Amino acid sequence: MRTLVAPSILSADFGRLAEEIASVEAAGADWIHVDVMDGRFVPNLTIGPVVVAAARRATRLPLDVHLMIEDPTRYVADFRAAGADWITIHAETCPHLHRAVQAVKETGARVGVALNPHTPESVLDYVLADLDLVLCMSVNPGFGGQTFIRSALEKVASLTEWIRVAGLGTLVAVDGGVKPANAGLLRDAGAGVLVAGTAVFGAPDRAAAILAIRGER
Ligand code: DX5
Ligand code: ZN
Repeated sequence: MRTLVAPSILSADFGRLAEEIASVEAAGADWIHVDVMDGRFVPNLTIGPVVVAAARRATRLPLDVHLMIEDPTRYVADFRAAGADWITIHAETCPHLHRAVQAVKETGARVGVALNPHTPESVLDYVLADLDLVLCMSVNPGFGGQTFIRSALEKVASLTEWIRVAGLGTLVAVDGGVKPANAGLLRDAGAGVLVAGTAVFGAPDRAAAILAIRGER
């Protein structure tokens, strides 16, 4: 399957958010990645459902909402109502991960689970088959523009093999420090979705950046 590229609006100009989203849609983005941070699970604060609703009005692309918040089940219905197509929760925030995954599914959204760089994929034992997506963090979540952590490659490869052997259709996504220079390794390891903030929004030619991350030039 063709690798999907999901520009993260964390690196967009929020004063011109609708234009910025339209710009990456025109440049060939597959999904729009939206980083929600609560100042507790991660050090930074970003946006809530009101901004997701504004993003929803700005594009027809799937909205991929990455919840870096404690107790995410409190908010999944609100993000779904705001227009999220995909909702990803962090394994580290969910002592009852199976229940939280079902709570996302009940909203009708596709469900993802994110793993911090040090969190082993084995936390997904007994829940992987319920997931539409696993998001491997390749930076410690909280900020755009950080350096890619290489151990994510091993995790992507291991998850890809697990999913293949189990005969599942789960997508493996990677988020953090993704750029044309490491995208090829990630695609080879099995990543089906590459999230990129600065590498797309910071590029002089966003269409070229998306093509390069997808491996099409
Ligand atoms: C980090 C966020 C990422 C971030 C990626 O906590 O989850 O989505 O925006 O930004 P870059 O691609 O600049 O590392
Ligand atoms: Zn993210």
